[in-house]
Amino acid sequence: MTRKDGRAFDELRPIKITTDFVKFAEGSCLIECGDTKVLCCASVEDRTPPHVPEGEGWVTAEYSMLPRANRERSKRDVSKLKLSPRSAEIQRLVGRSLRAAVDMSKLGEHTITIDCDVLQGDGGTRTASVTGGFIALCLACRTLVEDGDRRGPGLYPGGAAGAGAPVRQGQPRAAGHSKASAGREALMSEKFVLASHNPGKIREMSAILARFGVDVVSPRELGITVDVEETGTTFAENAMLKAKAICAASGLPAIADDSGLCVDALNGGPGVYSARYGGEGLDDKGRYTLLLNSLRGQTTRAAHFTCAIACAFPNGDTLTAEGQCDGTIAFAPMGEGGFGYDPVFFVPSLAKTFGQLTAEEKSAISHRGKALAAFSEKLATYLRK
Ligand code: IMP
Repeated sequence: MTRKDGRAFDELRPIKITTDFVKFAEGSCLIECGDTKVLCCASVEDRTPPHVPEGEGWVTAEYSMLPRANRERSKRDVSKLKLSPRSAEIQRLVGRSLRAAVDMSKLGEHTITIDCDVLQGDGGTRTASVTGGFIALCLACRTLVEDGDRRGPGLYPGGAAGAGAPVRQGQPRAAGHSKASAGREALMSEKFVLASHNPGKIREMSAILARFGVDVVSPRELGITVDVEETGTTFAENAMLKAKAICAASGLPAIADDSGLCVDALNGGPGVYSARYGGEGLDDKGRYTLLLNSLRGQTTRAAHFTCAIACAFPNGDTLTAEGQCDGTIAFAPMGEGGFGYDPVFFVPSLAKTFGQLTAEEKSAISHRGKALAAFSEKLATYLRK
């Protein structure tokens, strides 16, 4: 029996592997199995996701078909905002297969991401990805070994691929990762949408999520506009309203925050109305001047800032975290830094207003800094489950 292309039933298609196919990846190859062509690139990062024990490494994979890999153009995964179930399943297969071949304790604290991009699909793209991905992974490990000094002396005491190198030799580990691990991995390969256009907030949140191997995109980048009415009576409620709406519109995990100033003598006001205090026409200076005027003659000046962060996942799970910073309302504005009510929010322990602090000094003690730290811990716990 012969096949359509004339091959015998037990004859493999011609296989060609071109190593170091691209210039920048730590390891790469183009694997061709007949007319199937997959570009496999391995990238090394000097950090690991939070669920990885200290001193160990991690290997993960991403898989995608380019639009003209098929006879007809298919939409890019990114333009559909999420991976097709097929791609998600294949990238999990590739990641698990490659993890089974790696001794994580010898990898050091590195994450190696294997990107498998199908340039042309003519059957067998997943097996080509596993094989090509393995070669790219080996080449990246070789780069790590050769770069031992730059990335940390003593990383590979053997000094050469072999016994001291992380890729296992003939002793595959059971590929049976827990269900939870599969869930985490799927989640970590996602992007999170951050419901904010404030560059400062985007920068802070991106830095936190980068530790989890997660990228941040803004609703604008996804072409989404969701106008959410902040009808909640608490910061947490408003943050969750925004996170859920963006999550529903994008199909991606979404993060939103809400914050404001609560003044004891104003029964906790302006609170959730901080941004709108005094009505539309006022700017930051107008709002804090109005606040100072409404506290004229008032000796009880205790106040606090609160920040709530909410995260909504497409499976219905939610997380919330809050941070609070106590202080008093100054009698006059001081300092030019920050924004909003910063010039009138006095921190007694530092004897300065928020407006007199550097950005680093402020985020070390601020409601937002505390909420971000609490959120980061909650997310780590959630991902570990
Ligand atoms: P939002 O959470 O960005 O909607 O902020 C609500 C409002 O609370 C802002 O417009 C500010 O007036 C005020 N606010 C929140 N956080 C801060 C802060 O760190 N410094 C000063 N004002 C803040």
